[in-house]
Amino acid sequence: MRILGRVPLVGEIEVGGAKNLALPAIAASILTDEKVMLSNVPNLTDISSLLDLMTHLGSDVNFDSEKHLLELSTKAIKSTIAPYDFVRKMRASILVLGPLVTRFRKASVSLPGGCSIGARGVDIHISALRHLGADISIENGYINASAPNGLIGCDITFPITTVTGTENVLMAAVLGKGTTRLINAAMEPEIVALCELLNEMGAEISGVGTPIIIVEGVDSLHGTKFEIMPDRIETGTYAIAAAATDGKLLLKNCKCEHLSSFFEILSLTGVSYEKTAEGVLVYNRNKKIHPVDIQTAPYPGFPTDLQAQYTVLMSMCNGTASISENIFENRFMHIPELSRMGANISIHGKTAVVTGVSKLKGAQVMATDLRASVSLVIAGLIAEGETIINRLYHIDRGYENIEAKLNGCGASLERFSV
Ligand code: EPZ
Repeated sequence: MRILGRVPLVGEIEVGGAKNLALPAIAASILTDEKVMLSNVPNLTDISSLLDLMTHLGSDVNFDSEKHLLELSTKAIKSTIAPYDFVRKMRASILVLGPLVTRFRKASVSLPGGCSIGARGVDIHISALRHLGADISIENGYINASAPNGLIGCDITFPITTVTGTENVLMAAVLGKGTTRLINAAMEPEIVALCELLNEMGAEISGVGTPIIIVEGVDSLHGTKFEIMPDRIETGTYAIAAAATDGKLLLKNCKCEHLSSFFEILSLTGVSYEKTAEGVLVYNRNKKIHPVDIQTAPYPGFPTDLQAQYTVLMSMCNGTASISENIFENRFMHIPELSRMGANISIHGKTAVVTGVSKLKGAQVMATDLRASVSLVIAGLIAEGETIINRLYHIDRGYENIEAKLNGCGASLERFSV
């Protein structure tokens, strides 16, 4: 992608449906043989990757990507094997494990393997399912699980807060026998929404949004219609883009309450945001960005998925800020690329120390993972001159129509192939 820099973003952007809710919601359709209709499903490669796996398992999948309407039926599922070729493309495919084991009493899901931002093991998913009574062996890179008599509810304590770990266990427990308590459960808004979906399908989940979620197992779930909530990470990404480019953006159809830590920090940097009937208006009220330190943390702390974007905002602040990444062990890969554009950032273990510079200069850079790649787009928008970003496929995993959305607000992004 070619980006011509130093452009203030002015205008409005429609925020899409939350990728990290749509993914578990798609997996949840495995829990019933009735039709599940999801609306506001974003048209992203991560979504189509999971839908390819669902089709491979035998589900009926009907996705109108223009209208963002998805119809799923798993009545005709004929396989409980999730092959490596599908799982390696999108690690959140692990989310089919819990639903398959609890509904079909067996599953064979490829281990996701490594990821560029960290080891991202699934050991906690596996040990929790074992506690629920699944017999699990790891052979030839596959997780082979079986529970011929179904899963039995029990207390599960998560040693670390895990988002998809909580989601996998939650979906396994809803058809288990008896009561399961998920202790130290993740509290992300996507998990609250997943519980709402499961309860609408007939599950009995309480303690939603607290660190202790209680599931009373039921015999079966029924179909439903459900709307995917707005993507809070897309919202935060474009809010930072507005602030970093001295622009003014109205972000429509977003929910600020899912981003209170983030907007609190943004306000401390000198950025203004105003809730309106349509969403939130973000602009930079005093031109300079003040340095504000952050620590990424599980919800409701500062989201790790906005750390790379925030680093770009701090790259031109009037001082020095420290950014600590506490969730993943290797989520600073955007930093060497930003340094090539003139940013002044040093890494000390899990902390990046950013000293603001007066300008960034366009350069050839490499995208490495989803959120790092969109941080390079923001850097390209604030840099002087031309920036070329390679390996663009990372961006399409999580940002629908990013060129159209940004070019509609004054940017000049052009995709090309060499
Ligand atoms: C989810 O990943 C999100 N993905 C990630 O978003 C997000 O960055 C992450 O949560 C943290 O908020 C989806 O929801 C599809 P974790 P997940 O399990 O569930 C370790 C994006 O950009 N861990 O909460 O995989 C793990 O290595 C993506 O949209 C284990 O060690 O994250 C990490 O260090 C990137 N063993 C920490 O816990 C396990 O069994 C938190 O990971 C599970 C996790």
